[in-house]
Amino acid sequence: MADLVVSLYAPALDALGRKVAATDITIRPVLAPEQRLVVDWVRDNFSDNWASEALVAITRQPASCLIAIREGQIMGFACYDAIARGFFGPTGVAVDARGQGIGAALLHSTLQTMKNMGYAYAIVGDPGPTQFYVDAVGAIEIPLPGKGIYADMLRAPAP
Ligand SMILES: CC(C)(COP(=O)(O)OP(=O)(O)OC[C@H]1O[C@@H](n2cnc3c(N)ncnc32)[C@H](O)[C@@H]1OP(=O)(O)O)[C@@H](O)C(=O)NCCC(=O)NCCS
Repeated sequence: MADLVVSLYAPALDALGRKVAATDITIRPVLAPEQRLVVDWVRDNFSDNWASEALVAITRQPASCLIAIREGQIMGFACYDAIARGFFGPTGVAVDARGQGIGAALLHSTLQTMKNMGYAYAIVGDPGPTQFYVDAVGAIEIPLPGKGIYADMLRAPAP
């Protein structure tokens, strides 16, 4: 998939914020003492590669990994500045919690955080669900071939 660019100053970001405002979920940056818990959750629910990115994001100051929490349980996560500065992702929601607006709420909170940090655009690298980003925040495909920064990435074998 081509990388995507998202304008953090387009009306779509504020519109998404209004849409997710009623979502019943707490979203906040990961606290340093939660590092192992969150990285293990990402590995168990997604992959070792994403767990590595989450580790990098969590060990920044401030942490550039946000989690969605409901009733004391992690429901999802989203990172920025993990594989490269200005990149959104990885992100994911627990399988059983999908379709409840959590992914959209994480996307909004993370992009708003990036905007507050001084970014004007965010890149979504090699996205899976391109349409999710197109519909949610008006993401635009960058018309370049190849996998960009992920081209030669070593992938951990499936457990
Ligand atoms: C993509 C993902 C984060 C979405 O999370 P979610 O909590 O299920 O999404 P939401 O419930 O917030 O959905 C918000 C909107 O996006 C749509 N949507 C959700 N997943 C979608 C997908 N894969 N493709 C297109 N649209 C999608 C929903 O239908 C909803 O639309 P609506 O506003 O018109 O009702 C989740 O499916 C996931 O974890 N996928 C596996 C990991 C992954 O692919 N991460 C992205 C890597 S770039």
